[in-house]
Order: sequence, then C-alpha cells, then structure tokens
Amino acid sequence: MKKIVLITGASKGIGKALAQKMLSKSYFVIGTSRSQNFDFKHKNFFPLALDLSNSRSITNAHQDIFTKFDKINILINNAGIGPDLDTLNPKRDFLNATFDVNVSGTVFFTEPLIKLIPENGMVLNISSKMGSVEVCEKTDAVAYRMSKSALNMYTKILSNRLEKKIRVASIHPGWVKTNITESSLENARLSPEQSAQNIYNFLKSDFKNGTFWDSERGIMLHW
Ligand SMILES: NC(=O)c1ccc[n+]([C@@H]2O[C@H](COP(=O)([O-])OP(=O)(O)OC[C@H]3O[C@@H](n4cnc5c(N)ncnc54)[C@H](OP(=O)(O)O)[C@@H]3O)[C@@H](O)[C@H]2O)c1
Repeated sequence: MKKIVLITGASKGIGKALAQKMLSKSYFVIGTSRSQNFDFKHKNFFPLALDLSNSRSITNAHQDIFTKFDKINILINNAGIGPDLDTLNPKRDFLNATFDVNVSGTVFFTEPLIKLIPENGMVLNISSKMGSVEVCEKTDAVAYRMSKSALNMYTKILSNRLEKKIRVASIHPGWVKTNITESSLENARLSPEQSAQNIYNFLKSDFKNGTFWDSERGIMLHW
C-alpha cells in the first residue's frame, strides 16, 4: 500500500517540486492549490482545492479528505505567502493576510487531520530561518518573520503533544528560486528541485521530533 503525503501549495515553487519528488518515489500525493491550476498530472496525484485564508474552503477540503482517504502518512504544510518580503515597515493588511495563511489557516487546516496520521507519521512545516528569533539581526519583513516564528512555536507545541507517535519539524528550505519574491526568482541559490531533494533527504532521515532544520546546509537551526 502506497504511503500518502499531503502537500499544501503544490501548484508551483517548492510545493510543486516536492509533489513531483514524492511521486517519483512512489508516494500517493494529495496536492492543494486555490485555483487548482496544476500543470502536471499523475495517476497517483489527487488535486485538492484549498484557500488557507478562507474557513469555508478549509472545511470543504477536510470533507473531501475524510471522504476519500483514511490516512495521511505525511502532512507537509508548505503553502505560505510573504507580501512584505523586501519591505521595511509593518502594514496591517500585510500582517493580517500573512497570519491568515501562514499561521491561522495552517493551524486550523492541520488540527482535524492529525487523527488521520498513523503512528510513525510526520508533520513538516515549511518555515524559514527568517523566523528564528535567536539569530535575527534584520529589520525587514516584519509580518513574514513573525508568522514563521509563530509557525515554529506551533511546531514545538505539536511536537510536545504528539511525542512518541508522530514526529513534527520546522524546515528552512534554503533560498529558493520561486515567485514568492522577485529577488528570490532572480538571485536565489537553489532551484525548487534542489530544495525538494534536500527536504526529501530530511524526511527520510532519522530526525529528532521537534527539530528546526536548515535543509540547505543540513544543520539544526536556533529557534
Ligand atoms: N523561496 C524561498 O526562498 C523560501 C525560503 C524560505 C521559506 N520559504 C517557504 O516555502 C514555502 C513555499 O514557498 P515558495 O517559495 O515555493 O513560494 P510560491 O512559489 O509563491 O508558492 C507558494 C504556494 O503557496 C500556495 N498558496 C498561496 N496562498 C495560498 C492560500 N491563501 N491558501 C493556500 N495556498 C496558498 C500557492 O498555491 P496557489 O497560488 O495555487 O493557491 C503556492 O503553491 C512557503 O511557506 C515559504 O514561506 C520559501
């Protein structure tokens, strides 16, 4: 029986590359997107509509999942936005929009799914080292940084709650060429495929529950 991985934000960027990596490794992949505009198809790929900023959409996605699947081995919370990346001053609209997707939407999408994750399953939250409180020396991207710090705290809380049953980790995927910002697309070091390979290596490793991991450098990060 194939292992099932659910990846949020699988239409492009890191999420799409991860979906393709997991399909190539014989997983069954449930991939989400708001528009459901996937430019790839696979017999083991199930596309799911999901807008994390919309409670109704989250409920509908849960209904679909519970109707069609009786387990999810790995949940990868990848979907995320960064409207204030490359900007300095906090703006209320950006802060609310960022927290709606990266924090509240991710938490309330995850909670009901935990009962579908069997023993030895995983929850991987795609975070960022920009969310690390301990090493922060910058002043930009207030909403994005705060949202990833909050997501990291959720990782820690879940890892405490699910200890011994499901492993939970936050992953920094490296600086990756995606549309999340223009500067990433132009200047980032990694392709989405390279980042997906690094994340795959991490999920196949014997990682410790409650880890914050830099998958580009292969080292633990400070919270
Ligand atoms: N790129 C980097 O250098 C980098 C570095 C550190 C961390 N990250 C993190 O990596 C993750 C993936 O980012 P990426 O760089 O691959 O960005 P991306 O190319 O912009 O992809 C973002 C994904 O999130 C989905 N998404 C956006 N808004 C959504 C919403 N309201 N509800 C549900 N899904 C939504 C998008 O799907 P649809 O538009 O189809 O809905 C898309 O698949 C994010 O969490 C990001 O913070 C990226």
